[in-house]
Amino acid sequence: MKIIQALIFLIIAISGPLAWADPADDVKSPGGLGAKGYVWNKLTREHADILRLTGDFARGKVAFSGCRGCHRADGAGRPDGTYPRLTGQHASVIIKQVTDTRAGLRVNPKMLPFATEHAISLQEIADIADYLSKVQTVAENGKGAGTNLARGKQVYEANRCQRCHGLAGEGDPRRVFPVLAAQHYSYTLLEMQHVKDGSRSNGHPDMSKLLKPISREDMEAVADYLSRMPDYRSADTKP
Ligand code: HEC
Ligand code: HEC
Repeated sequence: MKIIQALIFLIIAISGPLAWADPADDVKSPGGLGAKGYVWNKLTREHADILRLTGDFARGKVAFSGCRGCHRADGAGRPDGTYPRLTGQHASVIIKQVTDTRAGLRVNPKMLPFATEHAISLQEIADIADYLSKVQTVAENGKGAGTNLARGKQVYEANRCQRCHGLAGEGDPRRVFPVLAAQHYSYTLLEMQHVKDGSRSNGHPDMSKLLKPISREDMEAVADYLSRMPDYRSADTKP
């Protein structure tokens, strides 16, 4: 496993600017969503190892310093959606996304060098996840045009997105379903597009199927609706 990670790192390091292209152009992982035999959330060894650790908020705050350049000091990301908001995301989801990125299942060449075993340990991943799941931000998230919100609600609920993400966009930490409420509009839209076309290789197959018949306009309406959901993440668990 270590050798594979080192190889991936080397390939990215020597392939220069191309590999640093925006994640919007990201490449599909060969064993990922849409591939035969793909199983969503199949635990890798290191993912299972991290789940056995207990995260520590104070240590996580320190370890997060390596992530601030992109996700900002308070994990608020950027309102233009180039970097997602991480505050208030479930710890289980943070851990899955970081380990999927390390394993190359979620292709993210920009972030990978900051997330490899050379950059952070398994304990630090658990710590960062604990910190991010509890920390608050006062920064406003990016929103859409606000013109089609009733349609957004209708499409979200008629497709029963709430089955996994909840009516308030709260997700489900136990089932590893992400929080969607008050994420940046452009990021939410981009991820929906990537799960729909399969380029987010760690996506859920049922969600991908659901999105197939949904038009771009309706996806924009849903992303806008989600971006304006009450940010209960800022109101709850201040440790
Ligand atoms: C060089 C920029 C950069 C750095 C540094 C960085 N990230 Fe990221 N991260 C990104 C980008 C870009 C995305 C969105 C990728 C996409 O659109 O698919 C992302 C996505 C994520 C996600 C997924 C969020 C979601 O809602 O699915 C998590 C979790 C995450 N990063 C955690 C971290 C952690 C923890 C660190 C530090 C160890 C870190 N990132 C460092 C650029 C970065
Ligand atoms: C069967 C459960 C399920 C259903 C139904 C579902 N999703 Fe998802 N969704 C997921 C999972 C799981 C992920 C995270 C994938 C991963 O593990 O990386 C996700 C990710 C997302 C993301 C990206 C979040 C992020 O932080 O990166 C968005 C946006 C999203 N879903 C929107 C929707 C919408 C809109 C619908 C309804 C059309 C929907 N989902 C239906 C399970 C589901």
